[in-house]
Amino acid sequence: MMSNVDAVFAATNNAELAMNYDKWAATYENDLVGHGGPSEAVAELAKYVASDARILDAGCGTGLVGQLLAEHGYSNLEGLDLSTGMLQQATFKKCYNKLHQQVLGETLDFPDATFDAIIIIGVFVMAHVRSNAFDELLRITKPNGHIIFTLRPEFYDNTDFKSKMDALEKQGHWKFVAVTEPFHGRFKAHPDVNLQVWVYERMFNFK
Ligand SMILES: C[S@@+](CC[C@H](N)C(=O)[O-])C[C@H]1O[C@@H](n2cnc3c(N)ncnc32)[C@H](O)[C@@H]1O
Repeated sequence: MMSNVDAVFAATNNAELAMNYDKWAATYENDLVGHGGPSEAVAELAKYVASDARILDAGCGTGLVGQLLAEHGYSNLEGLDLSTGMLQQATFKKCYNKLHQQVLGETLDFPDATFDAIIIIGVFVMAHVRSNAFDELLRITKPNGHIIFTLRPEFYDNTDFKSKMDALEKQGHWKFVAVTEPFHGRFKAHPDVNLQVWVYERMFNFK
């Protein structure tokens, strides 16, 4: 039988992806060994984002990132995910003021300039969430707010993420702030995966 992680990777559309994450939700954390990304990304976020910031954890899953943010003193937290099963697990963490069932890559149901920071960890994998998701994430980030996310180095090199990220900078929508050195992803099922944390700052040029 296909493992939960392989079923997620094999999903070919958002309905399948949501269904496979729903099935995985209750045991997701047991399948991780450490899980590279959340701790490195929260450490980066803490360099730039004030403790009273309104933060969206986009693709929050079971809430591991929200939990870490809460441990770092952040309390104005909201989570977003397409999977109701994952959102259900995230409620148990009791760290989010609100949880939103919405789909990255589609129009997001928030006004312009809503969040001081958005963190997106373990979500830009395979082709599930495409680089066009940045357009809406930028729209709902406040000017001078931050967008923090993980990418696999080879995913950055071999997909349109690099060109999209560069284009958004050339168009004045965001400014590159920092990228970490690659670090080990610590995934039990995929031991060879490395990750990097990227940090961008939202500029004033609203689309
Ligand atoms: C690998 S998990 C990472 C969860 C969490 N950020 C963490 O680091 O543990 C990816 C999450 O992204 C969600 N996701 C995948 N595609 C999505 C989309 N298009 N819109 C919103 N959430 C999505 C999945 O449901 C899942 O909860």
